[in-house]
Amino acid sequence: MKKCLTGIVALGIFVLSTSVWSAGEVMQTDNGGLTSLRGYQQISEVNKSEAMKRVPRDHSTVDRNYVQQPPVIPHTTRGYQVNLNANKCLSCHSFKNAGAMGATKISVTHFETREGTTLSDVSPRRYFCLQCHVTQADARPLVGNTFRPVDSLQ
Ligand code: HEC
Ligand code: HEC
Repeated sequence: MKKCLTGIVALGIFVLSTSVWSAGEVMQTDNGGLTSLRGYQQISEVNKSEAMKRVPRDHSTVDRNYVQQPPVIPHTTRGYQVNLNANKCLSCHSFKNAGAMGATKISVTHFETREGTTLSDVSPRRYFCLQCHVTQADARPLVGNTFRPVDSLQ
């Protein structure tokens, strides 16, 4: 009887340990032979991240390619926080601060709601600046592009 009990306990421990082990195992997936911008990579694999691109600290403003283009950012934005409590970008680009900081003012479109009402402060849909404005780095394009600006901007 004693031997039988020990056997059951041992079996219990074995089953428990194997189930814990299999829960920790990463599930393997097959991407079906597709190559993406990440290269030929299984979804379950973590690929090596690329080296961070070097964004120039400060340079003059960049010409726009089309009329409605959000201008690209000619300075680094690393560490600039935009959250519920603070918006670092507005500390230079708001109507109030732009003059003193020598920065371009945000345009009036940034006060408009999607229904077309003009608010007295930045509209929530224009609050997260980096959704539309991006810094530039000297990087190889990921895909080819033959875009040409309209004549009036050339
Ligand atoms: C310390 C002040 C400062 C902060 C903070 C700052 N900027 Fe700027 N920004 C400038 C200055 C100065 C210029 C250049 C103006 C010029 O040279 O005419 C500029 C230029 C720009 C331009 C180009 C405007 C144009 O007409 O081409 C964009 C877009 C921009 N900033 C977006 C941002 C965003 C988004 C953030 C936050 C992530 C930010 N900036 C934070 C000072 C600042
Ligand atoms: C939904 C996209 C979007 C967001 C979010 C956004 N912008 Fe813009 N921004 C634009 C577009 C488009 C333009 C160019 C046309 C215009 O003025 O509306 C522009 C223009 C600008 C300009 C140039 C204005 C001028 O008169 O030449 C500055 C500076 C700027 N944005 C800063 C900011 C800052 C700072 C924020 C965050 C508080 C911000 N933007 C958020 C789309 C956006």
